[in-house]
Amino acid sequence: MAPALLELQNYQVAFSAGQESYPALREISFAVRDREALGIVGESGCGKSLTALSVMGLLPKGAAVSGGEARLNGKSLNGLTPEDWRSVRGKQVAMIFQDPMTALNPLIPVGRQIAEAASTHLPVSKREAKNLALDMMRKVGLSRTEHLYREYPHQLSGGMRQRIMIAMAMICKPQLLIADEPTTALDVTIQAQILDLLREMKENAGAAMMFISHDLGVIREICDRVIVMYAGYIVEEAP
Ligand SMILES: Nc1ncnc2c1ncn2[C@@H]1O[C@H](COP(=O)(O)OP(=O)(O)OP(=O)(O)O)[C@@H](O)[C@H]1O
Ligand SMILES: [Mg+2]
Repeated sequence: MAPALLELQNYQVAFSAGQESYPALREISFAVRDREALGIVGESGCGKSLTALSVMGLLPKGAAVSGGEARLNGKSLNGLTPEDWRSVRGKQVAMIFQDPMTALNPLIPVGRQIAEAASTHLPVSKREAKNLALDMMRKVGLSRTEHLYREYPHQLSGGMRQRIMIAMAMICKPQLLIADEPTTALDVTIQAQILDLLREMKENAGAAMMFISHDLGVIREICDRVIVMYAGYIVEEAP
């Protein structure tokens, strides 16, 4: 069998402050295969976001990998330099965060943020990056894109901001899309629209997905498999 796209083996993350250290992820092992959608559920604080951030090379200050290994496309993610991580993020793995208001830069027009995501990771000119961004904005269901391109995050609704985040994440056609509670901040009808969009984008791009949610109903709709975490452990894995 081909190696999994993403594989974590006895992977551990600990927080340390001075001499004190406490484990936040405890020997977790799981894999995500090509095009597969893996759900992660578990109560608040169990380590879902840390798992996602580990795979993005974005662990918070004080946290470090303390054991085990994560591999992407068969290549270890342990001990990557910041520059290595920049080549992993965007093209191989991209992430959608729960709160687009904090994930987007408030001082840069949203269209330009999407274009910058493209020009950081792809060999394109400024003009091509802008066209890619406009195209992506249409694909995520935004209209009047030329106008929207120049708007700032605070001028958009929550649902529109999440569409912008999805456009930013998908613009480099990542192999793995991570969505960390992508609809928690939205009201119910908008939630359903964003979930449909995510599913559609994933299918069209042929990407795999790691989908984090408190809501098993949502996971059931979107995912092929689910793992349940509790206090830093994986306690269950099921279709
Ligand atoms: N910046 C930080 N500093 C110290 N501890 C942290 C930090 N971020 C997370 N932790 C700890 O790591 C553990 C896992 O946190 P994580 O954010 O992954 O939880 P989560 O499962 O995503 O929860 P939620 O559902 O609330 O988002 C928690 O016990 C938390 O206290
Ligand atoms: Mg979280």
